[in-house]
Amino acid sequence: GKRLDFRASKQRLLVVANRLPVSAVRHGEDSWQLEMSVGGLVTALLGVKEFDTRWIGWAGVNVPDEIGQKALAKALDEKRCIPVFLDEEVVHQYYNGYCNNILWPLFHYIGLPQEDRLATTRSFQSQFDAYKKANQLFADVVNEHYEEGDVVWCHDYQLMFLPKCLKERNSKMKVGWFLHTPFPSSEIHRMLPSRLELLRSVLAADLVGFHTYDYARHFVSACTRILRLEGTPEGVEDQGKLTRIAAFPVGIDSERFIKALELPEVQDHMKVLKQRFAGRKVMLGVDRLDMIKGIPQKILAFEKFLEENPNWRNKVVLLQIAVPTRTDVPEYQKLTSQVHEIVGRINGRFGSLTAVPIHHLDRSLDFHELCALYAVTDVALVTSLRDGMNLVSYEYVACQESKKGVLILSEFAGAAQSLGAGAILVNPWNVTEVASSIGYALNMPADEREKRHHHNFKHVISHTAQEWAATFVSELNVTIVEAQLRTRQ
Ligand code: ADP
Ligand code: F6P
Repeated sequence: GKRLDFRASKQRLLVVANRLPVSAVRHGEDSWQLEMSVGGLVTALLGVKEFDTRWIGWAGVNVPDEIGQKALAKALDEKRCIPVFLDEEVVHQYYNGYCNNILWPLFHYIGLPQEDRLATTRSFQSQFDAYKKANQLFADVVNEHYEEGDVVWCHDYQLMFLPKCLKERNSKMKVGWFLHTPFPSSEIHRMLPSRLELLRSVLAADLVGFHTYDYARHFVSACTRILRLEGTPEGVEDQGKLTRIAAFPVGIDSERFIKALELPEVQDHMKVLKQRFAGRKVMLGVDRLDMIKGIPQKILAFEKFLEENPNWRNKVVLLQIAVPTRTDVPEYQKLTSQVHEIVGRINGRFGSLTAVPIHHLDRSLDFHELCALYAVTDVALVTSLRDGMNLVSYEYVACQESKKGVLILSEFAGAAQSLGAGAILVNPWNVTEVASSIGYALNMPADEREKRHHHNFKHVISHTAQEWAATFVSELNVTIVEAQLRTRQ
């Protein structure tokens, strides 16, 4: 029958995510500076405007004292953010441990830690206990700020235990959960010692969302195979309770990027960059310095391209902007030194006194610099080994209306399903294939570039972050009304 639509009214929305859109830096006993956080989740949610939103999460910093906590809560309140305070030990076991050493690699098909990454199975259990404890702390803060009728939208793998905590305390709460990473094949998920508890907890939500249909399908398979529940086209059913499961591909606030290109400061950055790299084609990588982004593979493919194409050696440069992330996790530290080593070797091999082929920066760029870079570069290289969606690819396309640059995109990024027709899709593990795609992109005739770009641009401007959130929240409201109607029948 006809679907109900709740989009007209201004809905109060509690967004609950591990990381707040701003991270705090302490300057004194009660003085805080707030900096923009980096990551796809923040980018997507900042593009959501239609709701009366409050954001609950961690400010990325340990605040042991009451004076500091009060001052930080006040500073965050101006941004409509509410802090969850996590002590150092919880952060170590929950964030560095269970989230980023166990769930993150598993969901991206890297697997579970071997002995060198995890000393004993007892520490696995203590990390899972800390994960549950942290999720309970998030639930406490949600409860404190919840008002009847609010939609509570929980985000990502850090908060898989949260739907259960919330529903146990208030079964009437409207709870949605969305995963920003891939959900892996059930054969991967079943390796996880806490596989049952996590699935059951997520199923406590009313609506569960993923970026792609494949991730949703994997989740349903995990529920049917591991929990032995019944999967229906609508979702998963457990003793008469249906949890709706669906795909909601995220997007960006494309207008924000397109408009930024007109700003004088962005134009100035563009001018400087054009002068700096005059006479050379410029390729761009923008990533968090994460093992899933395939940065070493990307750089090795570029080396192979230079090796096989001596005529290009002084005519192309790769700018790799890699912002450090999760720096307390040993795997990330190893990756940083590995990338530095490869970049140094290649620059030593192919550089001259006046130029090097790779510019690698370990930092984040501000929004204006980033837009300028997206706009002036000839090729973007997104080589994730796995990636939930990858919004960098969307941002690049949004900024390329005048240049019509080429996007080389990993087939293992969720974005391959939406931008695949316009991008050159590659298997990032196949360095030879990526190297030849670089050559293809650099030599691509203007009419082909234009056609490919146009295809992707149309998608990026019509599938925005706002639309993503509106669809999710509307679907959550519909799901709840339908459930009420079912129980009345
Ligand atoms: P992830 O969520 O895994 O970080 P996405 O590609 O979906 O991956 O999102 C990354 C977001 O972070 C984008 O909005 C991008 O602009 C931003 N970002 C990534 N690296 C940098 C950087 N070095 N400087 C500034 N912003 C960055
Ligand atoms: O799903 C991507 C994600 O894990 C988001 O949760 C987060 O915005 C981003 O990566 C950055 O990671 P972190 O919050 O650990 O710095």
